[in-house]
Amino acid sequence: MILDYKNIDDLNRYKIMSGTVIPRPIAWIVTEENGVLNCAPFSYFIPISSNPALVLVAIGKKDDGSPKDSLANILKTKKATICFAKKEDAALVQKCATPLAKDESEVEKFEIEVKRELEDYPPMIANTQSALFCEYYDTYEIPGDTTPVILEVKQQFIEDDKINERNHVFIDNIGRCGVTFKALVDL
Ligand SMILES: Cc1cc2nc3c(=O)[nH]c(=O)nc-3n(C[C@H](O)[C@H](O)[C@H](O)COP(=O)(O)O)c2cc1C
Repeated sequence: MILDYKNIDDLNRYKIMSGTVIPRPIAWIVTEENGVLNCAPFSYFIPISSNPALVLVAIGKKDDGSPKDSLANILKTKKATICFAKKEDAALVQKCATPLAKDESEVEKFEIEVKRELEDYPPMIANTQSALFCEYYDTYEIPGDTTPVILEVKQQFIEDDKINERNHVFIDNIGRCGVTFKALVDL
């Protein structure tokens, strides 16, 4: 079967693409603006370069057409802390996708424990195995409702026992597969 994208509407393209390009890592992004901590998951997320160390996150709009809080905060403060979720976080990640008012904090509402590891960046989720402390780098203009945001990783937190002396990393993130989450499995 050939699926011709010009005959497929946005919702169904989303369903097909996000069910096909799997598993996708989840950027569980903490931003901060006016003392309000925002925390939301994004799976249109990928590293695109190691030097400079860049990742791309594609952020859509809210139903009312305004930018999602994460995007508004990144554009304003130029900072984001990307955390990685593990199996036991799946339900909490899902909760963090609940649309909240801009002045309402997911961190407070869902009682997420955070830890300010670096003064100049939003705090990371306290139990994360690894977090990327990022600065805004650029956005890529495309038609439609999505803004691909490029972030530069400046520093990284990683639990001591999750990286070895050869810089091999052993973290067990969950990823997005269609509408479900999947944990990494060994072959
Ligand atoms: C696992 C998962 C992945 C998601 N990925 C994206 C994504 O890549 N882009 C996007 O715009 N929204 C994505 N969402 C929806 C956002 O998390 C949701 O719109 C959230 O309310 C945005 O919060 P904010 O307004 O605080 O930024 C995802 C939701 C879930 C549960």
